[in-house]
Amino acid sequence: MGNSNNQKTAKHFHHWLWDAWCIFSVIGIWPRFIEPNLLKVSRIDLDIPHLPLALDGLKIVQFSDLHLNNAVSSFFLRKIIRKIKLLNPDLLFFTGDFLCKGVLDDRKRMKKFFNSLRARYGCYAIFGNHDYEKCISINHEGDYDVVENIQSNLLNGFQRLFSDVKVTGTIVERARKVDLHPELVSVLQETSFKCLHNETEQVAIGDSFLNICGLGEYMAGRCLPEIAFKNYDKQYPGIILVHNPDSTALLESYPGEVVLSGHTHGCQINLPWMWKKFTKLENMALQKGLFRVFDKWVYVNRGVGGIMKFRWFSVPEILFLTLRKKS
Ligand SMILES: [Fe+2]
Repeated sequence: MGNSNNQKTAKHFHHWLWDAWCIFSVIGIWPRFIEPNLLKVSRIDLDIPHLPLALDGLKIVQFSDLHLNNAVSSFFLRKIIRKIKLLNPDLLFFTGDFLCKGVLDDRKRMKKFFNSLRARYGCYAIFGNHDYEKCISINHEGDYDVVENIQSNLLNGFQRLFSDVKVTGTIVERARKVDLHPELVSVLQETSFKCLHNETEQVAIGDSFLNICGLGEYMAGRCLPEIAFKNYDKQYPGIILVHNPDSTALLESYPGEVVLSGHTHGCQINLPWMWKKFTKLENMALQKGLFRVFDKWVYVNRGVGGIMKFRWFSVPEILFLTLRKKS
């Protein structure tokens, strides 16, 4: 107990020093206090071949990487709610990282936020690498592993800055054994969001259907399309939800028109040289934005939050996507 209090005090002291540096350096004011509180809506229309007429014009809103902890202000949460309400989505998707490093700080706050959001045909979510009982990330060898929450995020950030670790794609066995965060799962059951963990659901829209397929976390070895697509009806189009954009490598032989992902935070510290230190992917091309991978559209969302409230040229984002029938 004494040890954990000391750790908390040390964390507060580091953060206090960090805030002081951000203010007195002046250049730190923008990424620390301004940019993380901005919120941009990115609007995209996607042409989908053979789209049923009932799905033409379908409005999809996606947000990602909330990383809810005490540092996320209620003002910012209200801003997200307000913007999403204004967009009046037909479908609303959250693509993982509800938590920071597997810690659920405030159950009531999480429930209240996700219960404030609605969409005409439903709200769906998947889990990210921070939403398991223990956080899954990249260890010092570059493997996917359980990462213990023992030091401040600020020190972790500086360590990353001076490390040259390359992602190997190897999943350490103990990472495969970590369960989803049980309390988070139970909180979300009390909200308007349905969580899909390697499963597909069909949503009825007019006289047609849309498949919604949610996959488990790639870094934990839980991205299992062979299970997730079992209930997929190939007669109808589909939206695939994956947290980590590297998951798309596993989707070549599976159906689906649009893949929505997050995880990268759009590089978060999007400065020359530095972005590579904070964006660790197997396929480094998939940092942010829209791509064509195999025969699918892939969107990598910059997310709305981060483990540290610090962003440089990577404004928090909500995606507003409209499906269009390709003529
Ligand atoms: Fe994240």
